[in-house]
Amino acid sequence: MKLWQGRFSAPMSADADTFNESLSFDQKLYRADITASLAHAQMLGKCNIISEKESQAIQDGLQSILSDIGSGALKIENAEDIHSFVEENLVKRIGQAGKKLHTARSRNDQVATDFRLYARESCDKAISLIKALVEALVLRAKEGAKYLMPGFTHLRKAQPVSCGQYFNAYSEMFLRDLDRFAACRRRLNIMPLGSAALAGTSYPIDREITKELLGFDEISENSLDAVSDRDFVAEYLFAASLVMAHLSRLCEDTILYTSDEFGYWNIPDEYSTGSSIMPQKKNPDLPELVRGKTGRVYGHLTSILTVIKGLPLAYNKDLQEDKECFFDAEATLFSCVSIYTALIEKITINVNRMFEEAGGGFSTATDIADYLAKKGMPFRDAHAVTGRLVQYCIKENKTLFRLSLKEFRAESELFEEDILSTVTPRASAEARDSVGGSSLNAVRRGVNAVRRRLKKF
Ligand code: ARG
Repeated sequence: MKLWQGRFSAPMSADADTFNESLSFDQKLYRADITASLAHAQMLGKCNIISEKESQAIQDGLQSILSDIGSGALKIENAEDIHSFVEENLVKRIGQAGKKLHTARSRNDQVATDFRLYARESCDKAISLIKALVEALVLRAKEGAKYLMPGFTHLRKAQPVSCGQYFNAYSEMFLRDLDRFAACRRRLNIMPLGSAALAGTSYPIDREITKELLGFDEISENSLDAVSDRDFVAEYLFAASLVMAHLSRLCEDTILYTSDEFGYWNIPDEYSTGSSIMPQKKNPDLPELVRGKTGRVYGHLTSILTVIKGLPLAYNKDLQEDKECFFDAEATLFSCVSIYTALIEKITINVNRMFEEAGGGFSTATDIADYLAKKGMPFRDAHAVTGRLVQYCIKENKTLFRLSLKEFRAESELFEEDILSTVTPRASAEARDSVGGSSLNAVRRGVNAVRRRLKKF
């Protein structure tokens, strides 16, 4: 029997019922639903809308449902949605009093409240998982501060950078993600309960009581908006999408850096996969999968944005479509962040190979141009002189940091002995001591700055 059967003379047909149900997925909300109902029942009692005895009976009944679901003694089944399931089961357990739980409430403010409680916890979980990832990156950055690697633009070697600076770059991205989840949590922590179906309620409820009991920061100010607002779902999915975007960049680097062609990192066997036909292969399936799953989370963001677009005020059943995208994005996000934390902890870094490569591709050419510019040559001319030196190296199959002073001076009289120590990859990285730069000290300061900001979460 439906909660709303009274007005109907025929039961719902089986196919319509199956199409309409949400219990198969919204059962995930059972704890949030019972928590919100406990607070609602307490408030109804305190405001004398139901008797204290009835309120207590409802609360005891709800507690027993909660523990029976937790222990597996009660299976969630045979109801339209989780709200109907809990209420029907309550009535089975405590009889008449159970039928009073839904006084001054609608499933519209109920589901909005449950979902916010659920999403709040999910933000906390996302924050703790992303924090663990940043902590793993920080350890890598700390040990990598003294090692050099090639820095790329356009995926061509550009300038030597510090391996620590590289890992710090990802920490920056994930720190922004932490901030986004914290902001999302802050904005969603507003209580819709008490808005009822759409117009508010004629019962003398006290929303402050339920607000305090449920740990909300504020009470929603407009009942029409409160029952139909799903901005928090879109915000959560956007925050999750950007985490996935950042992870997928890290995936791409991982896939490139662990290839034979780069040879910078190794993924240990426990986190690698093989080929069913080519016996020699060691494949980076995990980063590829994370990169692939990014599309899935983006899809869920598009989905909720489309669901809320053009909805007339106030609640519409379209909004039932807010949950599956959230649950799947959440599970995807959590598994991807967790597996990547393990990967970051476990990859091995071939520091010698990276060091050799850091000096390749004439990566210290900018240092030569800067050297000349600092001696008074206009930068544009210095750029051209250095370009000619690069051409010379290509022709003679030489590297910039192995040229003799004579070879330098053939292009400009401004070169002196000290150019030979300026043009090495190490000197190039050390010269960049600006905030966020590649020198050992700048990177160490960067690591400390990341640690400091991480403490906020
Ligand atoms: N299962 C519904 C949802 O997820 C609960 C709210 C139902 N409200 C209604 N007016 N039919 O949105």
